[in-house]
Amino acid sequence: MISRLIYTVYEVKNLIRWKRFIHTMYGLTLKETNQNNEFEAVVDSTGCRIIFREGKTDDIVAIGFESNSLDKIENSLVSNNFIAEWGSEIETKSRYSNKLLKTIDPIGLQIEFVDVSKSYNLYTEPDHDLEFDCGDLGLGHVTLNGSVSPEDMRYFYADTLCMGLSDCNEPTLGFGMTLDVVFFHTNKRHHSIAYAQIWTGKKINHFQIECVDRNSVGLGYKRCKKAKIPIAHSVGVHPNDNQISFYVRNPSAFQCELGAESTEIKDNHEAKKFYGISVWGHESPLMQTLIYAKNMIRYKIKMKLGTIPKTPTKLLEEKKIMPKENTKLKLDEAVRIATAAIAHARKENMEPMAVTVVDAAGTIITSQTEENCALIRPDIAYGKAWGCIGLGFSSRALHGLYGALPDMNPAFDSFGAISKNRLVPSPGGVFILRDNEVVGAVGVSGDMPDKDEACSIAGIKAANLQYRK
Ligand SMILES: [Fe+2]
Repeated sequence: MISRLIYTVYEVKNLIRWKRFIHTMYGLTLKETNQNNEFEAVVDSTGCRIIFREGKTDDIVAIGFESNSLDKIENSLVSNNFIAEWGSEIETKSRYSNKLLKTIDPIGLQIEFVDVSKSYNLYTEPDHDLEFDCGDLGLGHVTLNGSVSPEDMRYFYADTLCMGLSDCNEPTLGFGMTLDVVFFHTNKRHHSIAYAQIWTGKKINHFQIECVDRNSVGLGYKRCKKAKIPIAHSVGVHPNDNQISFYVRNPSAFQCELGAESTEIKDNHEAKKFYGISVWGHESPLMQTLIYAKNMIRYKIKMKLGTIPKTPTKLLEEKKIMPKENTKLKLDEAVRIATAAIAHARKENMEPMAVTVVDAAGTIITSQTEENCALIRPDIAYGKAWGCIGLGFSSRALHGLYGALPDMNPAFDSFGAISKNRLVPSPGGVFILRDNEVVGAVGVSGDMPDKDEACSIAGIKAANLQYRK
C-alpha cells in the first residue's frame, strides 16, 4: 500500500542553528516554504525532503509516506480502529500533493499519506560532496521512541499499513538493561521506520539519510568533526542491515545518522532477532552513555511505578481522545494544596513546614512557609517539587534509586549539578494529577520525610486532585 518514506516534519526551537547544522552535516539545498517560519531541506528531485518549522517541542511532528492506494489505507485504518482524516486543501497543497490522508500512530505521532509528490520541483544541485541514494527507496529511515509495546507498533505499521517486519533487536545497554527495537520496511530499503521501546519524552530517536557509498559517509564524518558537531556514535556497522554509519547530536538534542550500503530486503526475506547494535564501531562518548543510562533508568522506574503516560492506542480503543484543555494547574488549586498541607501538619502536631507547588513546567505557583521553619526548608520543598517535573521521578522514587543503583551515583551527582541542585532524593515531593495527566508537583519539607509526604498527599486530596508518589 505504501511505496516509500518521502518526508519528515520536525518542530524545532532554533531554525537558524538547524539551517547551519543541516548544511554542514548533509550539505542539503534549503528552501523557505510558503508557511511562516518553516524551511525544507531538499534531498533529491523526487520529493525526498525534511521539513523544519519553528516550535517548542524540538521533536518530530509528522512523517509522510507516498502511496497510490490512499482509499485502501483509509479502509484499513478505520477497520483497525485508527483515526483516518483527509487533509484540508491548504495542508494538501503544502505537501505538493493532490490528496492527503492523516492518522495518528500508537505513540501519538501524525502519519501522513500523499498520492503524488513527484511533481515536486524545488530541487537544485547542492554545493556539497555527498551523494544521496534516496529516490524510489525513499528518504532513509526514522527511528521512534515511545512507551507502547513493540507489538502495538507492529499492529499499526505491519498489520494495518502492511509494512514488512525487517528485524528485531534486543541490545544490552549496561546496568542489566536491554532495549526492544523493531524495524519495518515499505520497499527494498531495509527499514523506513524503526521503533525503540523507551520513553524519553521525545518521539524521535534519530533520522537517517542514505548515501550512495561509504566514501560519502566518511566525508560527512570528516566535515562534522571539523565543524565540531558533537559525535554521538563514531563510524560503525550495524549487524541487521550491514549499514555503515555515524550519528551526531543535533541542535534539538536528538540524533541524526548518515549511512550507506544498507542491505536490501529480498523477496524471501525472513525477520531475525539480533542482540547488539553494532558489528564494530559506533562508540559513544561518556556523556552520551550517561544520557542513555538516564533515559533507561527513568523508563524502567516509570514502568515499575506505572507512571508512563497513557498511550494514544489505548485512548483510541476507548473511542475517545483525552481533552487537552483543563491540563493546567490553577492558582486557587495550588493555594488550596499548600494550605491543606500545612493544616495537616498542624493537625498531626508536626514540625513547622514549608510547601511549594509547581506547575507541569516547573514554575512556582505558590509557596508557603510557617513561622519558625528552618531557613533551608523552603529551598528543600522547592527541590522536592521541581525534581518531580525536572527528572520525572517523585522524590521518593529518586531516594529509592540512590540506594538501589550505587554505581549510578556519579551520574546522579551530575544530574544534581545540571539541575542546579534542584533534586532532593527524600520523600515529600509528589506529582499532582488531573485525569491521569501530570499538572504539577508539590514539595513539603519540615519534619521527617514520610511525614512531609503525608502533608503533600493531604494537600492534593483536599484540592480534589489525584497524586502519584
Ligand atoms: Fe538508524
